[in-house]
Amino acid sequence: MSIDTKINPPYSSLADIYDIVMSDVDYETWADYIDEIIITHNPEANHLLELACGTGTIALSLEELDCYDITATDGSSDMIRVAKKKGASVNSKIHFEVMDFNNIKSNKSYDVVYLIFDSINYLKEEELILKLHQDVKNILAPNGIFIYDFTTPRNSRKAVKYLDNDTHTIGNKYRYQRESSYDAKNQIHTNVFQIEQLKQTGNIGTDLFKEIHKQKIYSQDYMCSIIEKTEFTILEAYDGFQLLPAHKNSLRITMVLQ
Ligand SMILES: C[S@@+](CC[C@H](N)C(=O)[O-])C[C@H]1O[C@@H](n2cnc3c(N)ncnc32)[C@H](O)[C@@H]1O
Repeated sequence: MSIDTKINPPYSSLADIYDIVMSDVDYETWADYIDEIIITHNPEANHLLELACGTGTIALSLEELDCYDITATDGSSDMIRVAKKKGASVNSKIHFEVMDFNNIKSNKSYDVVYLIFDSINYLKEEELILKLHQDVKNILAPNGIFIYDFTTPRNSRKAVKYLDNDTHTIGNKYRYQRESSYDAKNQIHTNVFQIEQLKQTGNIGTDLFKEIHKQKIYSQDYMCSIIEKTEFTILEAYDGFQLLPAHKNSLRITMVLQ
């Protein structure tokens, strides 16, 4: 029996299994790292805006610290649906909403805008990165900071070795396969998720969905050359999850801009 594969937009069919796919990620430590950066660079910060919050795990973890008022946004309505459900289950006060970070709209200003887990790598053109910086600047309070991380070519080279052909079955409900490849010449990292929603145990009667995720991979020098064209000052470029300077071998770099 042949099964038709439907190509869905990124982070639509993946939303319901995203937290399981990311179960190896230590989000609490990541949230603590963002908190440390805030304490270091804008200790009075209260109002936080998360862009590309996904299913809201970082925002919910930061909320547990009981010192931030958080708005968390994502471009995918499916990711926000899951985030809202998680928020409701813990009586969260986080305001979750759908927002494309290419089209930021807010009447409020924020002490911190943050965008994590290489979500900025979804922007494949310099003009879009420049626009994002300008739009964030327009909604930052005085002394406000913009925090984001991006992954480097070295990370992509290493990551494909363990992400490619990653196959898992989740209960008797889903099965997914991830193919991961890196085009070093064009610096494009592609992850293809093939998701089967099992209607009953086994192979019969499955729905097949495919999502193709493409990210542009940036070196530190290139990202810094873009930032130089913005009105931001680089406070720090941190290596990985540490408060130490990034270097040419860094896999993930966290920028702190003001
Ligand atoms: C790798 S996931 C990271 C999600 C979340 N930050 C986390 O740590 O789990 C990338 C996220 O970026 C979001 N995204 C991609 N392009 C976007 C855009 N233009 N506007 C808003 N969100 C976007 C996706 O919907 C997805 O939730």
